[in-house]
Amino acid sequence: MKSELYSTHAEKYDAAVQDNIYNAQLERPTLQSMLSELSGANVLDLGCGSGVYAEFLINNGASKITCVDYSQEMVELVKRKFGERVKAYAQDLSIGLPDESSESFDVVICPLVIHYIENLTPLFKDISRVLKTGGYFAFSTHHPFTDFECSKSGNYFETELVQDVWNTIGKPVEVSYYRRSLTEIMDAITASGLSVTQLSEGQVSESVKTESPETYEYLSRNPNFIFIKCHK
Ligand SMILES: C[S@@+](CC[C@H](N)C(=O)[O-])C[C@H]1O[C@@H](n2cnc3c(N)ncnc32)[C@H](O)[C@@H]1O
Repeated sequence: MKSELYSTHAEKYDAAVQDNIYNAQLERPTLQSMLSELSGANVLDLGCGSGVYAEFLINNGASKITCVDYSQEMVELVKRKFGERVKAYAQDLSIGLPDESSESFDVVICPLVIHYIENLTPLFKDISRVLKTGGYFAFSTHHPFTDFECSKSGNYFETELVQDVWNTIGKPVEVSYYRRSLTEIMDAITASGLSVTQLSEGQVSESVKTESPETYEYLSRNPNFIFIKCHK
């Protein structure tokens, strides 16, 4: 799903997520702790944004990195930052991965993206297709429990488009995303032939305790994201 936050405001988004609480001190430390066997790996980074994960993959010895994002602005940022070290191109992931070969990646990651995609099955099936046997797919998304607070229908089991306003870049920007049940996420995984091998509900970094005691207290007691690793 296209959003101004990731196109017009791509550079501001990049600056904001370098050291904010939700991305830099909750989402990334949790998902990155689940990313094993990166040294020498061929990795596909889906919904790469401004490349904060690409940087982590480079620093952890991935031998080949492919970054894909809907936003041309994000793709340009990634190319500018990493040049030849990554291949980056723009594409809507809701149609799957038509440009990628079967059984070619050791690792596929998709941090904070699937809530922008209405139907997960075409993408998840293609992720399974492009993964080598024994490879893994790891992703994070909004916790279904948390997003249900934004439900207008009051029906947890119905997939719903939510309109919201976020202050990520220091001023309000409208965003839209899909909220869905955990069952729907799990069904898309199993329908694609992958098996869940790890699940986390996130762990906020201890450093937040001094930076923002109220946020630390809140995030220690309330789930915000869910993190799932699946193997082929
Ligand atoms: C919250 S950002 C996450 C970026 C990066 N993964 C990170 O963790 O910093 C979501 C990204 O998903 C991209 N995105 C949203 N919908 C998409 C789609 N249908 N196909 C491809 N990328 C999409 C956005 O352009 C944006 O860069």
